[in-house]
Amino acid sequence: MRINKYLASLGVGSRRAVDKMVEEGRIKVNGEMITAGVKVTDEDIIEINGKKIKKEVEKKVYYLLNKPLEVLSAASDDRGRKTVVDLIKCKERIFPIGRLDYNTTGLIIVTNDGELFNRVIHPRAEIYKEYYVKVFGEISEESMEKLRNGVKLDDGYTLPAIVTLINREKGKSELNISIREGRNRQVRRMLDSVNHPVITLKREKIGKLPLGKLKLGEYRELTQDEIKYLYSL
Ligand code: URA
Repeated sequence: MRINKYLASLGVGSRRAVDKMVEEGRIKVNGEMITAGVKVTDEDIIEINGKKIKKEVEKKVYYLLNKPLEVLSAASDDRGRKTVVDLIKCKERIFPIGRLDYNTTGLIIVTNDGELFNRVIHPRAEIYKEYYVKVFGEISEESMEKLRNGVKLDDGYTLPAIVTLINREKGKSELNISIREGRNRQVRRMLDSVNHPVITLKREKIGKLPLGKLKLGEYRELTQDEIKYLYSL
């Protein structure tokens, strides 16, 4: 990270103030005077006016939560609604990676690791997210094929999706649908577009990471292997 952003994030001053300190030759990195724009990491020893900066490196935490209904996937809510962060007991400043609708349940990762956040939500990451969906109506093969190939939404065609039928009976159908985009209310809008409004929606997987047996509102820490896996995506 650039030194001005890095020191600003530690509360040293604004980025501009840091730039000025650099210009004035008041900052050293690993014993060397530096020029503006130098990049640093937590491993570098930074001195300002000859005094070492103490970095309180926050421990990184990673939780996998089964989000219940009527819980917001945000760090806070100005309307006082319950958020995914409220459900997790920890002292770090955590936030969810990506979003699930207020009325969608299932797998959501909550962390204080901004780098993992950027990787997982980046559109280029193209990670499949798998949903269990119950819809009104008996869905036809033709409609499922449309969903697989891409349907037209008001923000453009959807990318190919993986759609498998679980059950179809008396005015209802159950499906698994995997998509690799993260548009707003995408699964609901895809199913609306083929006239099968969603009754329930639950996220069951992110890539190969499954929700597992957690009950609604339960959470657990990710294992080191799971964290590595998410970084590899
Ligand atoms: N698609 C939706 O429609 N809602 C979600 O919460 C996630 C994906």
